[in-house]
This record gives sequence, C-alpha cells and structure tokens, in this order.
Amino acid sequence: GPVPKPLIAGNWKMNGMRGSLAQIKEIAASNMLASGKFDALICVPATLLHSAALVTSDTPLKIGAQDCHDRENGAYTGDISAGMIADSLGSHVIIGHSERRTRYREDDALVRSKTIAAHKSGLIAVVCIGETEEERSSGRTLDVLRYQLAGSLPDGATGENTVIAYEPVWAIGTGRTASIADIAEAHRFIRSELCKRFNSEGDRMRILYGGSVKASNADEILHVENVDGALVGGASLTARDFLSICSAY
Ligand code: G3P
Repeated sequence: GPVPKPLIAGNWKMNGMRGSLAQIKEIAASNMLASGKFDALICVPATLLHSAALVTSDTPLKIGAQDCHDRENGAYTGDISAGMIADSLGSHVIIGHSERRTRYREDDALVRSKTIAAHKSGLIAVVCIGETEEERSSGRTLDVLRYQLAGSLPDGATGENTVIAYEPVWAIGTGRTASIADIAEAHRFIRSELCKRFNSEGDRMRILYGGSVKASNADEILHVENVDGALVGGASLTARDFLSICSAY
C-alpha cells in the first residue's frame, strides 16, 4: 500500500518548565522540519500545552498532550478533557501509554473510549500498545498486540485521526531497544491487523516505534519497513537530541 509520511513524535512525560519552551522554539525553527519530508510533534505536560502551541503556531511543529479523560467535562479532579486540549490549541494526544496502563490501570476499553473522545474533539490520537518482557519471553507478543489493537481502537479510526505507537514495555527508558528483526516482525503484524479491520485506511495509519530511540539507533530503526516514525521519550527533551533523530530522514 501507500507509505504514510513519517512522524517523529516526542513525549516529554513529566518533564519541562516554561524555560524549556526555548527547546520547542529551536526545534520548530529547524530547516529539517521545513523540508516537509516528515512531520514533527512534541507532546508536552498540560501546563505547557497552550504556551507551546502559541510559540509554534506559524511553524511546522505540532504540539500535543499526553493523556485525556474520556468524558467531556464534570467532577473529575485533576483530569483534562480532549476538548480542553483542542481549546489549548493542541492537535494530538497520546493515549494508553504503558506508564498510564501500568500506574493507573488503564485498560483497552478505557483507551478506546478516550480515543473516541479525542476524535470527537478533532484531535489525532497516538494510541500506544506493546508487550511486557514476560509476555515476550513466553512467546505471546503477537497475541498481546492483536488484543490491544482490537480493544483499543474504535471503528472510526482512520489514517487521518489515528497513529499507532508500538512500544515494547521493557524497552521504555531502559536503553534497550528491540532487535531490528523483532521491530520488523511486530510492525508487519500490526500493519496486517490494521488492514484486516480498516482495509485501505490500515495502510494510511502511521505505526511509530518507541523505546530508547536515540540518535545512534534512529537511522536503522526508522528505515525498517512499516516503521513510519518514532515516539521518543528521553531523547526528545533537548532540541539537539530530537533534531539529530530527525536527521535520519
Ligand atoms: O513514549 C515514549 C517512550 O515511552 C519511550 O521513552 O525514554 O525510552 O525514549 P524513551
């Protein structure tokens, strides 16, 4: 099928003060982004969402959030809705990151319901899936990915409104990445599942790899078939590291 335009996405997690907007501005101003060969996104903490969106409004860099509630509003202390993210001028939201699946017991049904909420507010959902170390060593990786995809994606998912991020849990923040062969196998499997369910839209959905992506391994990972970009944690915190990953394109 057609190969989607790549996306390099940063996930700042619980990092970043107002002073970090200088990094955002530097990324946004890079000639590499202006080339249009790939799209770029930084998902900041909610506290920086609106200011990051404002400083990048005339640039190619997109700004997103890291989670949303599945309801539009109400008595949910501490939560933010997809509508609030859109109102703050964010364009994307990460949903179902393994850190939230683990720490807040978010399951596939909740991830799907949050994804529907994101779509209703016009946001692009970056839906995360990935196996644990125990699931991989017991040979269950592809089954886990199949169930997570089936349960986490709503029927209304399209190449336009949904990005998949494959993040093996054991590769997140550990400095360990999956082997190139394992990445290729997982991405090929995810693509085939997407195409089974969404037909030609499945070919248009971007499948990002995440887990210890950095300048030294980006080139190899980003050129694997069915890898349409990366979701980058630690190495997205400075313009220098993020842009050196982008230079793989
Ligand atoms: O969402 C990105 C992430 O979980 C990967 O983090 O620090 O291993 O690149 P890191």
